[in-house]
Amino acid sequence: MVNSKLDIESIRKLFPVLHQHVNGKPLIYFDNAATTQKPLSVIQAINNFYEKDNSNIHRGIHTLAERATLAFEATRKTVQQFINSNESEEIIFTKGTTDGINLVAQTFGKANLKAGDEVIISSMEHHSNIVPWQMICEEKGAILKVIPINDAGELLIDGFEKLLSAKTKIVSVVYVSNALGTINPINDIILKAHAVGAKVLIDAAQAVSHLDIDVQQLNCDFLVFSAHKLYGPTGVGILYGKRELLDAMPPYQGGGEMIKEVTFESTTYNDIPYKFEAGTPNIADVVAFKYAIDFVNEIGKTEIRHYENELLKYCVEGFNSIDKSSNHQIIKLYGTAKEKVSVQSFTINGMHHFDAGMMLDAKGIAVRTGHHCTQPLMKYFGIEGTIRASFAVYNTKNEIDVFIEAIDKLVNSKLR
Ligand code: ALA
Repeated sequence: MVNSKLDIESIRKLFPVLHQHVNGKPLIYFDNAATTQKPLSVIQAINNFYEKDNSNIHRGIHTLAERATLAFEATRKTVQQFINSNESEEIIFTKGTTDGINLVAQTFGKANLKAGDEVIISSMEHHSNIVPWQMICEEKGAILKVIPINDAGELLIDGFEKLLSAKTKIVSVVYVSNALGTINPINDIILKAHAVGAKVLIDAAQAVSHLDIDVQQLNCDFLVFSAHKLYGPTGVGILYGKRELLDAMPPYQGGGEMIKEVTFESTTYNDIPYKFEAGTPNIADVVAFKYAIDFVNEIGKTEIRHYENELLKYCVEGFNSIDKSSNHQIIKLYGTAKEKVSVQSFTINGMHHFDAGMMLDAKGIAVRTGHHCTQPLMKYFGIEGTIRASFAVYNTKNEIDVFIEAIDKLVNSKLR
């Protein structure tokens, strides 16, 4: 029984994009792990900004500049409260998760890694938490190590412990796998990494819309996420870092805003967060991001997670019923961890994931197909890719019924 405490119909009304037909069928949007849809409040905030307040920030003394600056900084404060960082200066606005990880690799990594040092990531990382570390490791002669997983898609913590040593300088792990939905035991990972003196970056891109995040309780050193997976705009994200680390790190990019004083001979750098925010940022989208967080806060993450878990369970039951009615295993699930969020990857026996994705699209159902930017993870499972259904708070049990029926028809047409 899906949690009835949430008024899903009212929530759906807040999302204009959901109310359309695609290929002649009502849209069913199950690609939320790629990006969530945006509530009207976010869309209107972008519009309002350009209609009424558009101006550059931190630079002008006129009224519009003041309004734009206040709105921009209000989002920083909202993010600070949302993840409970100690101070809002510890929140750096970025272009998104990828940008945040590259920033840390190219500043903290560059300043602190030397030949022979080790960086640990996990087997289920998104490419954005692999490649930036490969790049800096190559530059510095450091070594990249990888935490192993099991077939359910869970990290092997004893495998992680074996990798840890005094050489470990950075552990950068995903909180929730975008391809599998696994929730990783990051409290434990952070404690163990700190015990050998390593710093820890948490990629919270997939976690942030499902799980409460308290950076002080986690005691992580860095944490990154994107607004667009949290019902907010694309092109905006945040990097949280502990003040003492951010203060000590060299800047990422040079330009306006990140300076205190410039001469042709030398430059002194601004304080955090501005030291890491060179150039005019994506002001309108940062302003609108606050409305996305307000939307999530109004519903409550516990409620959201509970509801989404019910949807996930209902979907998996639907898959099981397809297998049962055809008397053999047609649907193979990837990502069956005990702790997971509402993301389910699967393959259909004998059918390429792209074909399945196209056939579902013809029925108005949007899922993601492919390797989900996790090629090493796909390699572990010996596959090229999967079909991935990922649910958000505006999805419904009825949509899952339509989805399961569509898969059932695909499977049956294949068997005939
Ligand atoms: N990282 C995004 C996904 O998982 C794009 O689909």
